[in-house]
Amino acid sequence: MTTHTLAIGLDGIAVAETDLSLVDGQNGLLVYRGHWARDLAIHHTFEEVAHLLWYGHLPSAQELAELQDKMRANRELPAHVKGILDLIPADVDMMSVLRTGVSALAAPDHAWPPSLDQVISLTAKMPTIVAHRFARLAGREPLNPRQDLNHTANYLYMLKGQEPSPAHVRALDAYLILTQEHGMNASTFSGRVVASTQSDLISSITAAIGALKGPLHGGAPSEVTEMIEAIGTKENAEPWLRAKLENGERLMGFGHRVYKTIDPRATALRVVASQLSADDPWFDLATHVEQVGLKLLDEYKPGRKLHTNVEFFAAAVMRAVGLDDFLFTPTFAVSRVVGWSAHVLEQASNNRIIRPQSNYIGSMPE
Ligand code: ACO
Repeated sequence: MTTHTLAIGLDGIAVAETDLSLVDGQNGLLVYRGHWARDLAIHHTFEEVAHLLWYGHLPSAQELAELQDKMRANRELPAHVKGILDLIPADVDMMSVLRTGVSALAAPDHAWPPSLDQVISLTAKMPTIVAHRFARLAGREPLNPRQDLNHTANYLYMLKGQEPSPAHVRALDAYLILTQEHGMNASTFSGRVVASTQSDLISSITAAIGALKGPLHGGAPSEVTEMIEAIGTKENAEPWLRAKLENGERLMGFGHRVYKTIDPRATALRVVASQLSADDPWFDLATHVEQVGLKLLDEYKPGRKLHTNVEFFAAAVMRAVGLDDFLFTPTFAVSRVVGWSAHVLEQASNNRIIRPQSNYIGSMPE
C-alpha cells in the first residue's frame, strides 16, 4: 500500500507561494507586500491597507478616493439578506449569523472567477451584517450606514448609534489593519481550498468564517476576557491559571503555531490598548495575568516557546473601544475578509486544485 509523507496539522508544510504576507515566527516579523504591518497600522487606514493587499500597492489619493466611494456605495444589505438574518433565532451565535448572512449574499453574477468588485462589495457589507444583528439583539432598528464616515468609523457608528471618538476609530483601525492578513492560517487555507475547486468567492469566505469561529483560531479573544473576569483579582491569577494547567487545559491568548517568540501584533496592540486603558483596572489585571501566564507556561510547558498571541491584546483593544465580547470574533472576520479575499484572487490567478492525501490505517477486506 502506498503511504505518503505524514504532516499532522500540516505543520511546516507550504501549500502555496504568496506575495501577500510574510509571517516570520522565529523572529516575530509580519510583512504585508513589502511593508511592516506595524508601520501600516500606525500610518495608514483600513481602506489604504486593503488597497495594498488587493491591488499590490498603497493607493494614490485618487485611487483611495475611488476605493472609498465603491465601499460606501456597497454597504447596504439587500432586503432579502436582512430578512434572512431576522429569521435566525436570537440565541444563535454571532459567527453563525455572520456566516449565514455572507452566504445569503450569493448572486448570479458571483460566478468564477472572482473579481475585485465582488471582493469590495463583500468587504463593505460584512460590518453591516454584524451591526444589523447587533441592533436586533438590542431591540432597536438597525441604523443605515453613514456615507460621510470611513469603513471603521461607520462600523462603530452602526454598532453604537453615535459617532465614535477619533481615538476609538484610530485604535480599532490599528487592530483591523494588524489582522487583515496572516499567511496560510486555518481560515485562509479553508478559503483557498474552496477557491481551488473554482467554486465562488462567497463560498470561500463562508468556509473561512466557519474556520475562524473555532476557539483555537479566531474564537479566542472572548475567552480571554472570560478568563480575566473569572480570575477577578491579581491574587487569584496564579492559583487560577495553575489549576487550568494542572488540569491539562490551555490558556487562551497564549501560544501560536508559527510564532515561537512574541507575536508582533500582540506587541503593537498592547501599546494601542494601554493608550486607551491607562486607568482601567481591567487592563491592569490583564497585564498581570499575562505575566503570570507566561511564567507558568514556562514551568508547565518548558521549551514549547509559548508567548502571548494577538488574541490576548485584541480582546483588550476591542473592550477598550466598547465592543461586547460576542462582537470580538465577528470583528476579526470584518478585518480578515481582506486577506481571505486577496488569497482567493491569488489562488484564482494561478490555480491548481488543493487535494492532499491521507494514509489508510484501517483493515483490508478479507
Ligand atoms: N496553553 C497551554 N499549553 C499550550 C498552549 C496554551 N495556550 N498552547 C500550546 N500549548 C502546549 C500544548 O499543550 C502542547 O504541549 P505538549 O507538548 O505537552 O503536548 C505544546 O504546547 C504544543 O502545542 P500544539 O497544540 O502542538 O501547538 P499548535 O501549534 O498545534 O497550536 C494553538 C497552536 C492552537 C494556537 C495553541 O497554542 C492554542 O491552543 N492556544 C490557545 C488558543 C488561542 O489563543 N488561539 C488563538 C491563536 S492566534 C489566531 O489564531 C489568530
